Amino acid sequence: MTKILVTGAVGQIGTELVQALRTRYERDDVVAAGHRTKPTQDFINSGPFVYLNVLDRKQLAEAVADNKIDTIYHMASVLSAVGELNPQLCYEVNTGGLYNILEIARKHKLERVMLASSIAVFGVGVPRDRAPNDAVLLPTTMYGVTKVSGELLARYYFSKFGVDVRSVRLPGIISSETLPGGGTTDYAVEMYYAAVEGRSYTCFVREETALPMMYMADAIKALIELAQVEGSRLTRRVYNVNSMSFSAGELARSIRRVVPDFTCEYKPDYRQAIADSWPISLDDSPARQDWNWRPDYDLDKMTAEMIERLRTRLT
Ligand code: SER
Repeated sequence: MTKILVTGAVGQIGTELVQALRTRYERDDVVAAGHRTKPTQDFINSGPFVYLNVLDRKQLAEAVADNKIDTIYHMASVLSAVGELNPQLCYEVNTGGLYNILEIARKHKLERVMLASSIAVFGVGVPRDRAPNDAVLLPTTMYGVTKVSGELLARYYFSKFGVDVRSVRLPGIISSETLPGGGTTDYAVEMYYAAVEGRSYTCFVREETALPMMYMADAIKALIELAQVEGSRLTRRVYNVNSMSFSAGELARSIRRVVPDFTCEYKPDYRQAIADSWPISLDDSPARQDWNWRPDYDLDKMTAEMIERLRTRLT
């Protein structure tokens, strides 16, 4: 029997991942763990919820023991833009939190740990188109540094202690249920909200800035499929997953095909430098070969669904 703990469960990925896992498993076998952001009453009512700071080892140990957890999806993280404003917090939460999760997994002999790594692991000297899975990783942000150290720790805990840690390098995730908190790719989500609410949007990266992006449904699919695949098929612990790449201007044009009045201006701030340090697309052939990774959404399919969902929710 699988009993799952999702950290960062009130965050952008966590909220939808919890719901997706609860449709695949028994509702009560998926425990949502949140800390900073207060969950809605609906979310609390939708299944087991615990307040848990991943930096608190005792709380974490209790949550795992009390709920007989065997699998953790560790989604709690400080994102890149907040991380550049507060590198110390980013280091503490991302590196300290991940270390605690891996230690719990080792001590309690958990079956599986799923991690969200990021396109932010890439940096200096990597081809910006189709960045390889096994590139040299020299990120320029603290967020990237914490994600690289997370990947290295994952490999170490697997080879040294046999902890089955698996990870995907997620790009910017676009979703309609919960806003992302403090990432560089947040402009893509914000643009949809502005369009649906009839507002003009001021984008914090240049119009021609292109980054890898993915619709939430595909991100969840990547995490759950990688968690479920037979271990013998995996050639590595960390996988690039690619879906779509577009510039901020291309996104605005895609939105305008559905909301013709939408307007956008571009005023780059400190986040431009972060975006410029990341690749435009990833080579995800190892994920495609090893566990059959395939995304379902392209830009216009995502735009249609995002706008429909946001219209239902916000207007
Ligand atoms: N969406 C993340 C960020 O912008 C990338 O992992 O920080």
